[in-house]
Amino acid sequence: MEKTLQQLRQQCLGCTACPLAQTRTNVVFGTGREDAEILLIGEGPGENEDLTGQPFVGRGGQLLDKMLAAVGLSRKENVYIANMVKCRPPHNRDPLPEEQEQCMTWLRQQTAILRPKIIVCLGRISACRIIDPAFKVTRQHGVFIERKGVWLMGTLHPAALLRNPTQKPAAFADFLALRDKIGECCTHTQLIYQEESV
Ligand code: URA
Ligand code: SF4
Repeated sequence: MEKTLQQLRQQCLGCTACPLAQTRTNVVFGTGREDAEILLIGEGPGENEDLTGQPFVGRGGQLLDKMLAAVGLSRKENVYIANMVKCRPPHNRDPLPEEQEQCMTWLRQQTAILRPKIIVCLGRISACRIIDPAFKVTRQHGVFIERKGVWLMGTLHPAALLRNPTQKPAAFADFLALRDKIGECCTHTQLIYQEESV
């Protein structure tokens, strides 16, 4: 029988395959619906994520949720959010290549179960690992390429947008491009526009 994401999560929560296991509080496996056609991949948990076990829950996460909502997407309804590495690197350093390599075994299985139509890489680390080792976010963000029937795109990391808000319009354009691509290639993703609450 095929494994479900829930079963994979249970296995992952006990993972000690790389040294990041020693300093983590929680494994941050990922969140979203099992039938999501869109997979977002960040870098790795920060402090808030380590403490809660949920991806993108800090200020960057709130910005991500806003941008998703602007194009009718949400982690509750129609996207799945995961990270390159599931455990927080100490002091938020970049995950080492060997940590990424080890943790890819989980991301590969998540992807195999989800079978997303579209993968969006949030920031350089995941774009370089998943799209192209030479990926340049400034030049290649928002550009979709197809590989084995899956559309891949890299965009700016929400934390980079917090540091440099002048890049927000460029990131928003990437989310509009994502919405267009969903229209072209997804079969059951329903865009849901919430009324502004403010
Ligand atoms: N940054 C990431 O790349 N992932 C998270 O889950 C939080 C912040
Ligand atoms: Fe396992 Fe990934 Fe955590 Fe390393 S980062 S211990 S490979 S879950």
